[in-house]
Amino acid sequence: MQYIFSKNQSYEHLAAGHVIYGLSGSPNFPIRLAHEVYNRCLSHQKQQHGVSIYDPCCGTGYLLTTIGLLNHKSIAKIWGSDINVKFTEVAQKNLGLLGTQGLDKREEELVLLATQYQKNSHIRALESLDHIREMIADLDHPIDFQVFHRDILSPITSPGPSFTANIIITDVPYLQLVDWNGAGGINTLLNNIRVNIDTESIIAVVHDKRQKIANEFYERIERFKVGKRVIEIFRLRS
Ligand SMILES: C[S@@+](CC[C@H](N)C(=O)[O-])C[C@H]1O[C@@H](n2cnc3c(N)ncnc32)[C@H](O)[C@@H]1O
Repeated sequence: MQYIFSKNQSYEHLAAGHVIYGLSGSPNFPIRLAHEVYNRCLSHQKQQHGVSIYDPCCGTGYLLTTIGLLNHKSIAKIWGSDINVKFTEVAQKNLGLLGTQGLDKREEELVLLATQYQKNSHIRALESLDHIREMIADLDHPIDFQVFHRDILSPITSPGPSFTANIIITDVPYLQLVDWNGAGGINTLLNNIRVNIDTESIIAVVHDKRQKIANEFYERIERFKVGKRVIEIFRLRS
């Protein structure tokens, strides 16, 4: 696969566990690939500014946070949901880093840690935080976000708030990193997210080759592989 939109550059300031919070048991998505997938989706989307994006398996929100930081000029609203409440709590803090208040709070924490433990990793994280501040210094609109608990395989037990997203990007359970909680997998997810999309919405699903997508409501626009990951991009069938 050839990268079209993402440069081969260092994304070290956005590494998980540095400024962006990590959590053991939650896999971290490659940043360059996240940037590429978002921009490929955007290239198929009519709406180029004020975009709303949703991840129904958002985990700690690492994927959404890195996409938000790198693409803040086009994004106005981020929605994230997951079945695991421990993950959504972290996602809430991570998406807060897309604004001054969240960054100020994270800076206070890192200064305290640096003072207490005198570790280089905390000093380097503070440098990364300055870099992130610069990245979003030109943000003329705060990126609004909402994180909520939702079992995406069960629309009845956790329907979630009502909204329509321009772009959905989701990195479903795969590669034995984390398991699906519930039955039906990607095809059920695609059925259940139909309440959150319209005919213009673009949907990217990242999975492994063992999971096959066959959903009558969607037409595939792109499919590519990066290592063991398969990325498929869809829109609703007209
Ligand atoms: C590969 S991880 C996603 C990691 C995420 N992209 C991030 O940046 O942290 C897959 C996620 O799917 C979630 N998941 C599993 N079953 C689910 C379900 N039925 N409904 C919603 N989320 C589910 C897991 O809790 C896990 O966070």
